[in-house]
Amino acid sequence: MERENFGSKLGAVLAAAGSAVGLGNVWRFPIETGQNGGAAFIIIYILCILLLGLPIMISEFLIGRHTHANTAGAFRIISNGSPWKWVGRMGVFSGWFILCYYVVVGAWTMHYTFLSATNAFDDVPAQQYEDIFNNFVANPWLPTLWLFLFIGVIHFVITQGVRSGIEKSAKLMMPTLFIITIFLAICSVSLPGASRGIEFLLKPDWSKVTSTTVLDAMGQAFYSLSLAMGCLCTYASYFDKKTPLAKSAVNVATIDTLIAIMAGFIIFPSVFNIGMNPNDVGVGAGLTFVSLPNVFQQALGDGSILAVIFSTLFYFLLFVAALTSAISLHEVATAYVTEEFKMSRKKGATLVTVTILVLGTLCSLSFGPLSNVKLFDRNIFSLFDDFSGRFLLPLGGMLISIFAGWILDRKLYHDEISNNGDLKAPYFKLLVASLRYIAPFAIGLVFLDQLGMFDFIKK
Ligand code: TRP
Repeated sequence: MERENFGSKLGAVLAAAGSAVGLGNVWRFPIETGQNGGAAFIIIYILCILLLGLPIMISEFLIGRHTHANTAGAFRIISNGSPWKWVGRMGVFSGWFILCYYVVVGAWTMHYTFLSATNAFDDVPAQQYEDIFNNFVANPWLPTLWLFLFIGVIHFVITQGVRSGIEKSAKLMMPTLFIITIFLAICSVSLPGASRGIEFLLKPDWSKVTSTTVLDAMGQAFYSLSLAMGCLCTYASYFDKKTPLAKSAVNVATIDTLIAIMAGFIIFPSVFNIGMNPNDVGVGAGLTFVSLPNVFQQALGDGSILAVIFSTLFYFLLFVAALTSAISLHEVATAYVTEEFKMSRKKGATLVTVTILVLGTLCSLSFGPLSNVKLFDRNIFSLFDDFSGRFLLPLGGMLISIFAGWILDRKLYHDEISNNGDLKAPYFKLLVASLRYIAPFAIGLVFLDQLGMFDFIKK
């Protein structure tokens, strides 16, 4: 069976950017920036992207494109069957594991788009937003219904194939996402009092920067760029030989960072406009589904048409961002089962989808009927979230950088990033130095931090 390719360089970059731009850009980056010294955090974050993110992204691109195989196959081929092949297998597992809880949040964004569009937040007192959210996620049926719909959309795109599914949808959804982001940011920035929000985001306050800030910035950079588990490796296996790897990586990282910063311009001017303390808005689900619906109603006029449009577009934006990321995670597993177990794409995708339906439903129900099922003091959703975020991803990132820096043949590396001598690669030495000496050490620190090893120092 012939392997598909992305049809254009633009399509390749947009698909990879679709993977990178996700919930992490909206619900973590802005708040981390605000609380960690504004522009100071942004500068550290950009340094992390340059010194760690890009070298690893380029390495993942390279491994995928060189082998033209799914992540497990890619690592097996490129490591000549040595035990390093386990890094690829672990990556596939991590992606599948992340997807199980990621789809749950994707489903919530659909419900909130629907609520916003039907003006359901009109006249809701501020303190009731928490109940609305808690009652929704505790409901055994409604979140599951949205979950099935969300997974159904992913399944549909994946079964259409690489070019007419993934690439085509990215070419449609990424520009849409861009336009909505810019529109919402302009609206929010023109609200009265917006300048304080902009100042909160952009004024560098180096006194807030600690070693934890740096670790957070690194962790965020990895998550946001979809690194450390072979997501981008799988997409790069559909790049053709002419795609410039380093340039594409820079483009993806730039799009990802711009969207993350613009998300800050959507959120904080509105927060300051209603006189809310940005330290009280929460992060993650609390920020997105409890604080923000209220913030938007207050800032734009309760129940007004502007509030309806703004908040509908905001949740739709989140939905699109989550969807393109979820598609990339699904593709990692689909490419794996299809190629390693020689199945048709339809069969492979269906197998993956069924497992995600089952485990995703368990994660979703862990806010309701299954809330008592706990392990290590965590419900099922948090188990999936924490195990992948705190363990699988940092470990994967560390192993990938060691592999790329120390094991991978230097000539092969140079040939790939220069497209066999067609492109100049003046950054090559720096890249190798980062992969060898900086990245494994830096990610090792994030890993220890995630495992709680530094907690005693922080206290
Ligand atoms: N990058 C996405 C986000 O910002 C999430 C994501 C998709 C991801 N694929 C990944 C994270 C692979 C880590 C690894 O939300």
